[in-house]
Amino acid sequence: MHPMLNIAVRAARKAGNLIARNYETPDAVEASQKGSNDFVTNIDKEAERLIVETIRKSYPQHTIITEEAGELAGEDADIQWVIDPLDGTTNFIKRLPHFAVSIAVRIKGRTEVAVVYDPMRNELFTATRGQGAQLNGYRLRGASSRDLDGTILATGFPFKAKQHAESYMRIVSKLFTRCADFRRTGSAALDLAYVAAGRVDGFFEIGLRPWDFAGGELLVREAGGLVCDFTGGHNYLTTGNIVAGNPRVVKNMLAEMRDELSEALKR
Ligand code: IPD
Ligand code: CA
Ligand code: CA
Ligand code: CA
Repeated sequence: MHPMLNIAVRAARKAGNLIARNYETPDAVEASQKGSNDFVTNIDKEAERLIVETIRKSYPQHTIITEEAGELAGEDADIQWVIDPLDGTTNFIKRLPHFAVSIAVRIKGRTEVAVVYDPMRNELFTATRGQGAQLNGYRLRGASSRDLDGTILATGFPFKAKQHAESYMRIVSKLFTRCADFRRTGSAALDLAYVAAGRVDGFFEIGLRPWDFAGGELLVREAGGLVCDFTGGHNYLTTGNIVAGNPRVVKNMLAEMRDELSEALKR
């Protein structure tokens, strides 16, 4: 196993165990509001501290980028750990047992290893660039769907950026006439992991942040899938407007979406 994947797994399991323990004791969870429809809890922050501490022990010189603490610069800016300590905070607060820890390591901008860990199901999704993606050690391959007929597409509503609501609904309406059904699970990291596992055929969301997709992106690619922005390019790295699935599904999704994109979503 890649040594950094080993540390990433250790950190994700520690954080996941902490989250799962606190899921059982809702009185210990303190939620506060970060922005419109956007929450964080003491457990997000504690999980993040555990992850940072675990990484720092082995790699004190690496740079760490986390959702809650921001960028913790290290001597080595070429190696960046991108961390979402708890993806699916709203589910966690509502006691909906679907959330994950996501950790990815980027070296000179390229993601090398990734972990997405679902502590409630004890499902550990891992990937190393060029060496495939695994779920609890078993090799993953994405869905083999050819067109959109019969597909299940995962998505996330732009609940923090409602200025996109109208174009988003147009896209949903267009795709819905072609696919079988949608899922909105509340964890983008798990949505991407599920694309990698072939549990859903495709995924799209507006305005994700790097920590939401850094881990899941490598899982999808290593399972044979494609990740791009709404026009098929790479701008999702900055806009967070993301489409994922096997190459044929992505091509069909983009074709349906094309005429419904606002100017902002074409970027
Ligand atoms: C959120 C989840 C959700 C997605 C949001 C993300 P968080 O992450 O991934 O599924 O729709 O865009 O912000 O805040 O729970 O880590
Ligand atoms: Ca958040
Ligand atoms: Ca997230
Ligand atoms: Ca989070």
